[in-house]
Amino acid sequence: MAVDLLLGLQWGDEGKGKIVDALTKNYDIIARFQGGPNAGHTLEFDGIKHVLHTIPSGIFHKKAINVVGNGVVIDPVIFRKELDALKKFDLDIKSILLISRKAHLILPTHRLLDAASEASKGKAKIGSTLKGIGPTYMDKTGRNGMRVGDLELDDWKEKYRNLANKHEAMISFYDVDIQYDLAELEADFFEAIEELKKLTFIDSEEYLYQAQKSGKKILAEGAQGSLLDIDFGTYPFVTSSNTTAAGACTGLGVAPNQIGEVKGIFKAYTTRVGSGPFPTELFDEDGATMGRVGNEFGATTGRPRRCGWLDLVALKYAVRVNGVTELMMMKGDVLSGFKKLKVCTAYNYKGEKIEHLPFNIEADNVTPIFTEMDGWEEDLTKMDKFDQLPTGMVKYIEFIEKELEVPIKIVSVGPDRTQTIYR
Ligand code: IMP
Repeated sequence: MAVDLLLGLQWGDEGKGKIVDALTKNYDIIARFQGGPNAGHTLEFDGIKHVLHTIPSGIFHKKAINVVGNGVVIDPVIFRKELDALKKFDLDIKSILLISRKAHLILPTHRLLDAASEASKGKAKIGSTLKGIGPTYMDKTGRNGMRVGDLELDDWKEKYRNLANKHEAMISFYDVDIQYDLAELEADFFEAIEELKKLTFIDSEEYLYQAQKSGKKILAEGAQGSLLDIDFGTYPFVTSSNTTAAGACTGLGVAPNQIGEVKGIFKAYTTRVGSGPFPTELFDEDGATMGRVGNEFGATTGRPRRCGWLDLVALKYAVRVNGVTELMMMKGDVLSGFKKLKVCTAYNYKGEKIEHLPFNIEADNVTPIFTEMDGWEEDLTKMDKFDQLPTGMVKYIEFIEKELEVPIKIVSVGPDRTQTIYR
């Protein structure tokens, strides 16, 4: 049985949590493969709105097993808060949430290093969520990191101390004023570690291999989006993991030839939170309307998201890098009421028309070339069948499919689990 993937194709916040939650009924296992609590996956069902950060989005379906893979970085303090917030749902967490021993731990000093690094960059800052993601992945690739499995060994506190001491020395190298009380942060951290140790740790690559062999259906859940990928995103304004399809192989130990469907999610327009290039960004009333109607505020940081028209140049790139086999279009309902819609189909790059994502995108070297289309007036939020959708929207969908050469299989028309049209 192949492992299906579900990934965001833009700069994150496409609505992965909602779709994983909606699709979980078709899967036995949901496995998160990268990122950490920089993610905010929002789920809405039965009048409840819940935001997950590290825990996979299949957690509310009591029969599904949720795996936090080796590619994920875990902050025990945030994880504990996530677990506390789940208490009211009466879930048997120890049996439905399994954590890879190879996942790396975010230490309090990783968060401090993130803050020091960002502060030192001034105007060039990444706009990080400051959750310690970059420094933790740096320690992973630098071969200094602490992993969940270390907590089962006797000397983990010694390992912790050595690493934290090194971090403190590094923080002092930055010429910035970061105030902190490490003793307090550590007390919180150690308490949270004890809670984490109550959960089930596994060798997740072995677990997933056996599950797959015995016919279990597995969905790999990505975080962030393809344009934030450390290799293929708009570097350096990216996150520190591989958010693209290959990241599922390294983040779970699934072999490339075992990947089945690659489900790519995109918003009917584009958003970005944090710094970095965004060729179709709007600074006018249309952008403000998208932000307001789409409630475009970061689920983790609360920061307002930058909004703009759909960018098919960037989307085409993401479709190719990931090998997307089916698409899901989110938040089509937010575009209701726009008289005209614009879709970017090429860039004017340094005076030349190009249809690919160039190495160096700066605000002043790329201008989007748009195709204009008629909008639609109808409210979509109560629609539940594809043939109820207004003609303007069907044309919009068909145009995107033709450009991307991949079918759109799901159209989401609202945040609730039920506001999902399957085609
Ligand atoms: P970091 O991964 O927290 O260091 O953030 C690096 C960049 O990725 C910043 O621009 C963040 O705003 C962005 N980012 C990280 N996680 C997410 C996410 O889940 N959704 C959207 N943007 C994100």
